[in-house]
Amino acid sequence: MPGKFQPTSILVTGGAGFIGSNFINHFLPANPGCRVVNLDLLTYAGNLKNLTAVEKKTDYRFVHGDVCDGELVRRILDEERIDAVLHFAAESHVDRSITGPEIFVRTNVLGTQILLEASREHAGKVRNFRYLQVSTDEVYGSLGAEGYFTEETPLAPNSPYSASKAGADLLVRAYFETFGLPTLNTRCSNNYGPYHFPEKLIPLMIHNIMEEKPLPVYGDGLNVRDWLHVKDHSAAIETVLKGGKPGEIFNIGGNNEWRNIDIVNLVCDLMDDRLKRTPGTSRKLIRFVKDRPGHDRRYAIDASKLKRELGWEPSYTFERGIAETIDWYLSHQEWVAEVVSGAYRQYYREQYAEVGEQ
Ligand code: NAD
Ligand code: TYD
Repeated sequence: MPGKFQPTSILVTGGAGFIGSNFINHFLPANPGCRVVNLDLLTYAGNLKNLTAVEKKTDYRFVHGDVCDGELVRRILDEERIDAVLHFAAESHVDRSITGPEIFVRTNVLGTQILLEASREHAGKVRNFRYLQVSTDEVYGSLGAEGYFTEETPLAPNSPYSASKAGADLLVRAYFETFGLPTLNTRCSNNYGPYHFPEKLIPLMIHNIMEEKPLPVYGDGLNVRDWLHVKDHSAAIETVLKGGKPGEIFNIGGNNEWRNIDIVNLVCDLMDDRLKRTPGTSRKLIRFVKDRPGHDRRYAIDASKLKRELGWEPSYTFERGIAETIDWYLSHQEWVAEVVSGAYRQYYREQYAEVGEQ
């Protein structure tokens, strides 16, 4: 389509994580001729096995490194003539941000500023340039029983995680306003799908049911999240990158609100069916536990701007998405076992002895 931005060489940060790897698996085959460089530190959440489908492609390169390493980032931007930076890398788990907030500020705030600064220096060296910040609806804080987050909703983050993501979003805004860097900012609701680390609600429940372990539900279980399939999120990011007007924010969501307890019950029932267990078996594993401090009550995204202006629509119904996700976990038990035991991390430590090596 005329007027659309067509990148030729993109830098994806955090491409070994849940959403970043799904994005690369989606984007690379759909954009032949566009190079994809994946910069990832391989923290506990990064796993190169998520990328076995693309790792041998000539248009793909992995760089083991830290987004806070400005020299490395500058080298990649220059060497690869990068014309789009898509920043997924982050510390992403709210519970971890409550027990250890500092790394969230370093990775999410400082890491973003370092990428923005390197992008600012580099942008003029290529014909056309875009910086896309992948963010979350959690920057808006919590909703009551009614209403939706729009792009105009004031930022009111409640957890150290969401505060660090909001800080990063404000830096993105500042780099657009002050330096004219062509930025885009997406804010998505909770994702689910393959390669989701089993510390987050849905994959944790699937894993614990497999192992017949207790299913911890925080507080009264009536907190609401708005779930989007990660493949729909990946397609939305591509849409915003190519069609979004610099300086704009786009909410991404699937209009799919669920109370936590309802989703846990649903996963229990689907798992009983798949595992040929007597109906009701897995529900007996549910345990209501102490609530998360500062637990946001409800998230719900209004994604009408993205639909209206750029024509994006989610393709997954939740019914299909959750069934496929459960089947994926059941057929990838080796992946789950490696992730849970941390075995894959030792392998990477041996393979990538020094940060910056490829
Ligand atoms: P994830 O935790 O699964 O993956 C994060 C990735 O970033 C990992 O591969 C990790 O190794 C890498 N990383 C961490 N620190 C790094 C550093 N200093 N340098 C380079 N790489 C580093 O996270 P995710 O769920 O895939 O989330 C990706 C992005 O999407 C994040 O910015 C997150 O805030 C945002 N987001 C996530 C959700 C969700 O539901 N998971 C929803 C909305 C927005
Ligand atoms: P989570 O997957 O951590 O995502 P986020 O906090 O970013 O929304 O949690 C989703 C919801 O599930 C949230 O309301 C907290 C709740 N939750 C539980 O009840 N039990 C759990 O073990 C986890 C991990 C989350």
